[in-house]
Amino acid sequence: MTNDTVTTSSAAAQVDRHGNLRHLLTLDGLPRERVLALLDRADAMRRDSHAGTRPLDLLSGRTVINLFFEPSTRTRTSFDLAAQRLGAKVINFDLASSSTIKGESLLDTVHTLEAMHCDAFVVRHKETGTPEFIARHLRSQAAVINAGDGNHAHPTQGLLDAVTLRRHRPELGELRVVICGDIRHSRVARSDIHMLRALQVREIRLCAPQELQADPAEFPDCHIFHNFDDAIDGVDVAIMLRLQKERMQAAAIPSEAEYFQRYGLSIARLRHARSDCLVMHPGPVNRGVEIAGDVVDGPQSLILEQVANGVFARMAALAQLLENRVGD
Ligand code: CP
Repeated sequence: MTNDTVTTSSAAAQVDRHGNLRHLLTLDGLPRERVLALLDRADAMRRDSHAGTRPLDLLSGRTVINLFFEPSTRTRTSFDLAAQRLGAKVINFDLASSSTIKGESLLDTVHTLEAMHCDAFVVRHKETGTPEFIARHLRSQAAVINAGDGNHAHPTQGLLDAVTLRRHRPELGELRVVICGDIRHSRVARSDIHMLRALQVREIRLCAPQELQADPAEFPDCHIFHNFDDAIDGVDVAIMLRLQKERMQAAAIPSEAEYFQRYGLSIARLRHARSDCLVMHPGPVNRGVEIAGDVVDGPQSLILEQVANGVFARMAALAQLLENRVGD
């Protein structure tokens, strides 16, 4: 198990000296008004995209580089689509065929790509703090968007989850939310907690086995549970998390079957929540491990809607960071 107390200074690194958002590295500490502005922007992107009446060419002439050092299906594809729908050109850095394999350092790679001119780097990396590190060492005016770093943050996942939640439950202040699963290793959990705090939901419950629970000192405003039947009782929203085995040094759970029995979301367990409880999961889903297949595909599941809203949330983030930026 990794020692995973998450400490970075991303909140300070993402704003300029006037307090304007220069990069998007974390939702932690982002003022409520700024979060709401991003959500409103994502809603407007969805309306415009669905109406199909207005060409979205806000980022015409801009170049966005997807710099992914970890696998991704949803995040990378939706950033690609989001940038293209705003008129930007997109380069998907291919790690396997890149000179990183020949030993080129991260910063040499970034500076090389900057020399060809780009307006934004969308960065995913297994090491916490890598997007911030890149942002602090840029030689151009490019923006950095964190697409997931270690167990630290996945801010656009937090945004897309909020966009999805708000469409179904506009009265966010009344919501009781449980986040269940591998919280310790989850950047999604952290960004969702930051988002739920900013939206001032009524109660956040964190449920996990002891070995996968967050340090309570990190989230003093959240209620910690180890029994899922207790944690799910009466909630409005259940956010389920994948076991992040790639971030565990040794097997931290006895078996997947036992894990599902104690912490998996089944139809039977969902009945302990409110009858209209919404079910969310960032994906990828491990059916039968943290969530049953019939819950994934059931009427209370928002999982594919989360995926769809990912494009609009990422359009909002890209537009917010790039539309008025003066290039090099
Ligand atoms: N939710 C999420 O980040 O999914 P991907 O790893 O497929 O991008």
